[in-house]
Amino acid sequence: MTEALDVVEFLLTARVYDRHQDLDENDLPPAHRSALWGDDGVPRPPQTTEDATREATGVDNPWDAVSGLMFTDRDAFAGNVSLVDDDMAIDWYVERADADRVRDNPVLAFVFGDEFGVDYEAARDANRSVQADPQWIDGLLEEYFDEDDEEMLDLVEVRSPAEIEVTLDDIVLTEEQEEEMSKVAKAIEHRDYLATIGLSEIGKLLFVGPPGTGKTSTARGLAHQLDLPFVEVKLSMITSQYLGETAKNVEKVFEVAKRLSPCILFMDEFDFVATTRTGDEHNAIKRAVNTLLKSIDEVSLVNDDVLLIGATNHPDELDAAAWRRFDEILSFPRPDEQMRADIISLVTSEVDVADFEPAEIAAETDGLTGSDLRLVLREAVLDALVEDRTELTQDDLMAAIEDFEDRDHLRNLDTLEDALDEDHDGHDHADHDHPTPE
Ligand SMILES: Nc1ncnc2c1ncn2[C@@H]1O[C@H](COP(=O)(O)OP(=O)(O)OP(=O)(O)O)[C@@H](O)[C@H]1O
Ligand SMILES: [Mg+2]
Repeated sequence: MTEALDVVEFLLTARVYDRHQDLDENDLPPAHRSALWGDDGVPRPPQTTEDATREATGVDNPWDAVSGLMFTDRDAFAGNVSLVDDDMAIDWYVERADADRVRDNPVLAFVFGDEFGVDYEAARDANRSVQADPQWIDGLLEEYFDEDDEEMLDLVEVRSPAEIEVTLDDIVLTEEQEEEMSKVAKAIEHRDYLATIGLSEIGKLLFVGPPGTGKTSTARGLAHQLDLPFVEVKLSMITSQYLGETAKNVEKVFEVAKRLSPCILFMDEFDFVATTRTGDEHNAIKRAVNTLLKSIDEVSLVNDDVLLIGATNHPDELDAAAWRRFDEILSFPRPDEQMRADIISLVTSEVDVADFEPAEIAAETDGLTGSDLRLVLREAVLDALVEDRTELTQDDLMAAIEDFEDRDHLRNLDTLEDALDEDHDGHDHADHDHPTPE
């Protein structure tokens, strides 16, 4: 039944879209839009092939779902499914649909909104815009960058919200991080208002913290939650061997971000900027970095709908010029005991663990990051698989922690000198061995 309703809705949407020139691609629900997408947008009339119908609705055999209805037809030769009697289709649909459905489909809200008490403008505003569709993004990237522009592909990666797997629910955030995420979400939602009152120095965040503390995941999760395209730039790639065009490519990244807007522009390894400015670097790199800083100054959330997030593991290497460009600094500390307990619970949520005691694990993992805890779990899972078990025990996890710490110790031998320096100063590792009461 819902299968038939989904298919009829799709066919009806295509029909209404075709009839009303006032409607544009942003009125189509994203799934319909991408199924109907042609070379350059959705053609009129839209091509409702069986394949497109399947893609739009997720119904495996769309024709089977509606072949029993009086007002549908299939042109087996062209592979099209269509409506042969619009009025009958409309009556049939209106009788069975509800307001939620119409609210999710601005095209139908345009014609049936009144009947369902749904406001067309509100439905359109809530609909994901065409700039967030993978097809549109691919088209844009093709327009800006040559296909064989390897340098560029190393430097930037663009994901549509549908292609982002991580959500904010997958990450354990500190209270400060939670607050900042809601603040940013509000700022994006009300950016028109912020523009009216002239508050434009907003929307540039710097995430600061050691590796594996969730900076990248949080930025992606935010894009997912806000349903925005995610443009990720790896700044160290600026030093790639094909330097000639880099400054120009940096400019292009910002142009792409502005065309994709609203979107999130994430710049990883931000410390790279500062070290290159002061270092004895190749001129082409310096030029690229200067272009980058200038572009950062010129982009804005309020005027361009681009939220900029920088991330760094080495805040100490950032100079004042780099700091000054961000209006909020958000710390990603190593998780405390409570957070570690929450993280281990979260990452094991799909795994059976007998005698699971997150608090005990948290107590034994001082200094480990979220990423380390994931590795611990992976180790435990693999070890259990070697014994042909898919159920873990608390002991498996505790053993994996011990292995992890041995390995970590080996790695630290490389940096023994650093460790000695730090111990000499009386901080860092010392507090791992002698926890101070809180
Ligand atoms: N607070 C956390 N809650 C849940 N998972 C976490 C947390 N922190 C890190 N992780 C997990 O660890 C992995 C690595 O995290 P992520 O890549 O976001 O770290 P990062 O801070 O960007 O590291 P780097 O500085 O090396 O780029 C991810 O799989 C992520 O889910
Ligand atoms: Mg990262």
